[in-house]
Amino acid sequence: MAVSYDKERKIFHLRGKDTSYAMKLVKDGYLAHLYWGRGLRQVSQGRDLVWKDRGFAPNPYIEDRTFSLDTLPQEYPQTGNGDFRACAYGIREENGSRISNLLYEDHEILEGKPELPGLPASFGSPEQVTTLKIHMADSILGLHVFLLYSVFEEENVITRSVRFENRSGRPLTLTKMLSMSLDLREDEFDVLTLYGAHNNERNMDRRPLTSGSVRVESIRGTSSPQQAPFMALLRKGATEDTGEVFAANFVYSGNFLAEAQVDPFRNVRFQMGMNPWNGEWLLEPGESFQTPEVVMVYSADGLNGMSQTFHRFYQNHLVPQAFAGKRRPILINSWEGSFFDLKEEKLLELADRAAEAGIELFVLDDGWFGHRDGDDSSLGDWVEDRRKLPGGLERLSQEIHKRGLEFGLWVEPEMISEDSELYRAHPDYALHVEGRPYTYGRGQLVLDLTRKEVRDYVVESISQVLSRIQVEYVKWDMNRHLTEAGSGSLPWNRQGEVFHRYVLGLYDIAARLTGRFPDILFESCSSGGGRFDPGMLYYMPQTWCSDNTDAVCRMRIQYATSLTYPPVTMGAHVSGIPNQQTGRVTPLATRGYVAMSADFGYELDLCKCGAEELSQIREQVAFYKEIRDTVQFGRFYRVNSPFEGNVCQWNFVSQDGREAVAFHFEILSQPAAPVRLLKLKGLDPDGVYRDQESGILYGGDELMYCGISVPLKKQDFRGECFRFMRIK
Ligand code: GLA
Repeated sequence: MAVSYDKERKIFHLRGKDTSYAMKLVKDGYLAHLYWGRGLRQVSQGRDLVWKDRGFAPNPYIEDRTFSLDTLPQEYPQTGNGDFRACAYGIREENGSRISNLLYEDHEILEGKPELPGLPASFGSPEQVTTLKIHMADSILGLHVFLLYSVFEEENVITRSVRFENRSGRPLTLTKMLSMSLDLREDEFDVLTLYGAHNNERNMDRRPLTSGSVRVESIRGTSSPQQAPFMALLRKGATEDTGEVFAANFVYSGNFLAEAQVDPFRNVRFQMGMNPWNGEWLLEPGESFQTPEVVMVYSADGLNGMSQTFHRFYQNHLVPQAFAGKRRPILINSWEGSFFDLKEEKLLELADRAAEAGIELFVLDDGWFGHRDGDDSSLGDWVEDRRKLPGGLERLSQEIHKRGLEFGLWVEPEMISEDSELYRAHPDYALHVEGRPYTYGRGQLVLDLTRKEVRDYVVESISQVLSRIQVEYVKWDMNRHLTEAGSGSLPWNRQGEVFHRYVLGLYDIAARLTGRFPDILFESCSSGGGRFDPGMLYYMPQTWCSDNTDAVCRMRIQYATSLTYPPVTMGAHVSGIPNQQTGRVTPLATRGYVAMSADFGYELDLCKCGAEELSQIREQVAFYKEIRDTVQFGRFYRVNSPFEGNVCQWNFVSQDGREAVAFHFEILSQPAAPVRLLKLKGLDPDGVYRDQESGILYGGDELMYCGISVPLKKQDFRGECFRFMRIK
């Protein structure tokens, strides 16, 4: 049983294949956290709660000074009645009171997992997932709260979300509504988060948890490149392959908060959810509010164990299933080669070169619509610019298809330029606050997606383009964060809802467009990997990892992105040299191997490449086609971290275990260089594998535990690939 309830002891036990999570009802129905970790056959009194009168810890019951919410390890802590740690939710009554107290009412165990209306969420069949719904209530407020725990037994994943219902006769305002909170009764952890910026997404930041809080967040309106909606607590000493990891990732694309707070008694409160900053929600009588969900992963096998779980889970239970197992095409993208300078003739020349190289998809990036010769105009006017495309998108798409390539198109649906027909007709379509000047980002404004007519415009105008031409791929971009986040369509007391309503609006248009064009492969993007989150992956199975295409930077970006997301969700392209973002000159082979470690493509002007380069590109394309299934659908293992030294290594193992592809990157050439070993992971120790290049036979154990020596070479930014086939 994935979920059981021991009536006598009032203990809930959520059981994954190798993990357990336990809670207990105490006193009048407070929900206490007992345990999260390795699988247990049963939870009886093993880690029962210890009662003690602690100084300055307030007591709800006058007769019992040992009971305090300030010291109780809680599951969904309230505020105003003695727990002075971070609360999980906040509420404001009409009279201004912010006090609330939740007690258990009842619970249900459901086979399967209910959908979360209007929100992206993981899914599974009734055989795969069981949901525990714990009903809590504040009877004074008339507030009912449903804590949803879905257990994916086989996957060792628990997801959590919360639904609030106002059953009072008065309005209530939610001022905080996190999706996950739990109190681990230990504090020997490091915290791992991922920070960054445009062109520098997802750097690993591991630091010890001491006193106080570690908190990461976004208040930018999107999940952001600045902080990823991810936090993991690593048991001290946990490594890539060993030790315990407790991780949470938020299935949401807007403002979020993740926090680990150490209390004076060395418990850690671990929380994640929507950011309460400027994020209120008015609940009229009878209304309800559903939070997005958090995916929780426990690993006893270090970060690698955590990533294997996330990868499998997202592929099987989050991304659009029609694409989960579908080969991703090798593409050529027009952006870095041409920017806004698009001409039909030139594009077709590029398509010719791409077809000769064996590339499969031609993507027309920004610049094809309105009169967009720079980034300061035309967003919202989704009609092709005939100066650039005299035969329209129709002819371009036809010509591209004649050359044997699929056709893809860039759009930025959530935006509006002041210099656009759309803005001239509907200036009110931009998010704004009456009487306040705009703040611009990349010279553009954000559409007010809280409004239905705006969403309808986006869906209709983009649908018109997608239905009149043959198109197999869409790149959905989003190039600025939200300011003046106000909406003329909402009353004053709902302006605090704009950030969340924007995200709900985004999900609405994403669902409608991807639903209307189910055969189109959508790749999301936000100035690179600025909105790489599970919320977007629910609608679009891949995300452009970063505008930084420099191979050396990409090693780190892709390495850290793989902590939660499988390589098949990452777009990666070979671009020209010197690199546009860093000025670095790296070998084509290295650029190729880094990009081949994900969904492969090119983003350079092939027409300017010499014969030798073109022939190398042809070989790369052919090689990727050979290893594609292993890269896209196999298991991915990080071997050596580019965050820790001069070497980066990783390897893939095909689903059936027959092929292993390993990559070795050495950043700077060094005098007196050490001989580097490459120790693969994920092989069968008893298997026999042939090195495809040398023909040498190795045992799986030998490849994993002893490793192979990488030949020395005097070369900066070096990349090597080793491919092994299992013969026994
Ligand atoms: C963003 C994207 C790029 C490119 C440009 C076009 O920066 O991340 O890949 O599409 O927009 O303007």
